[in-house]
Amino acid sequence: MEFNQMLEEKVGHINDILLLYTPDEDGRFKKICEAVSYSVKAGGKRLRPLLLQEIFRLCKGHDKYDETDIHPFMSALELIHTYSLVHDDLPAMDNDLLRRGLPTTHAKFGEDFGILAGDALLNSAYEIMLDKISTSCDMRFARAAKVIADNAGIFGMVGGQCLDVELTGKEINKDDIDFIFRYKTGALLTASLTAGGHLAGADEKVLGLLGDAGNAIGLAFQIRDDILDCIGSEEEIGKPVGSDERNNKTTYVSLYGLEKAKEDVDKYTESAKGSLKQIGENPFLFELIEYMASRTK
Ligand code: IPE
Ligand code: IPE
Ligand code: MG
Ligand code: MG
Ligand code: MG
Repeated sequence: MEFNQMLEEKVGHINDILLLYTPDEDGRFKKICEAVSYSVKAGGKRLRPLLLQEIFRLCKGHDKYDETDIHPFMSALELIHTYSLVHDDLPAMDNDLLRRGLPTTHAKFGEDFGILAGDALLNSAYEIMLDKISTSCDMRFARAAKVIADNAGIFGMVGGQCLDVELTGKEINKDDIDFIFRYKTGALLTASLTAGGHLAGADEKVLGLLGDAGNAIGLAFQIRDDILDCIGSEEEIGKPVGSDERNNKTTYVSLYGLEKAKEDVDKYTESAKGSLKQIGENPFLFELIEYMASRTK
């Protein structure tokens, strides 16, 4: 089967899993359920759950364990990522009105419900993971939840977003931009890889390689995101083009120019593949990482 067809099928499967965790309620909590459900169902590439699943396979988790056990962690990652986008778009942050091809959550439901939907999405992720942890004695689940929680917090995605906001409009250098990218984007991507490794029972050496690959994928991914903010098509990326310039952000492209940015996406992608090749074989995973590097959405 061709890569694109496999990707479509896998994303369809992830969307089905996410539906199981999307609230549906007609009573007093109707509006928050709608705001959460709208944010999740708007779509997205579902790369973080996909990476977790493919890393689980790379580490031969499926030979030893029931693969459905990883679904709560795939969903939790996507819900945390979705919350990060809902809050990233708020007027106090990037103040964007388009996301995943639709009006942003706050544009549709109001700023108050944008904030609350983000809170609810984040909390749901922990509810889902704790449900799994509290009904099993298997420590793999607690370890996966811990790396996801650690990478979502102050010393992870939230910390990266804080630096991004604090340094907006200021002169920043190569170290600053690497640091911001490593945290705001790299942390959750790294967690997708290391949580997949923990769920597959990977040893310390493999977890180290997954951490290295996650960092490299995170850098490549955010550089590509900055490139698309300049030269992407709004219709395809489903979010506003030129948001960074409007917000006075220093980006990889404004710092280095387009050519060097493209070269560095390739450099970090090769580095990630080099680390993962030392772990094992998963042709789809390697194609996925290349797709992420050359994506147009
Ligand atoms: C966008 O992430 C935000 C960044 C971390 C650059 P994605 O490009 O994965 O967004 P969706 O999930 O596909 O909408
Ligand atoms: C945000 O980076 C990364 C997050 C943690 C949400 P951006 O602000 O560049 O992401 P987009 O371009 O709005 O998706
Ligand atoms: Mg932002
Ligand atoms: Mg943004
Ligand atoms: Mg961006």
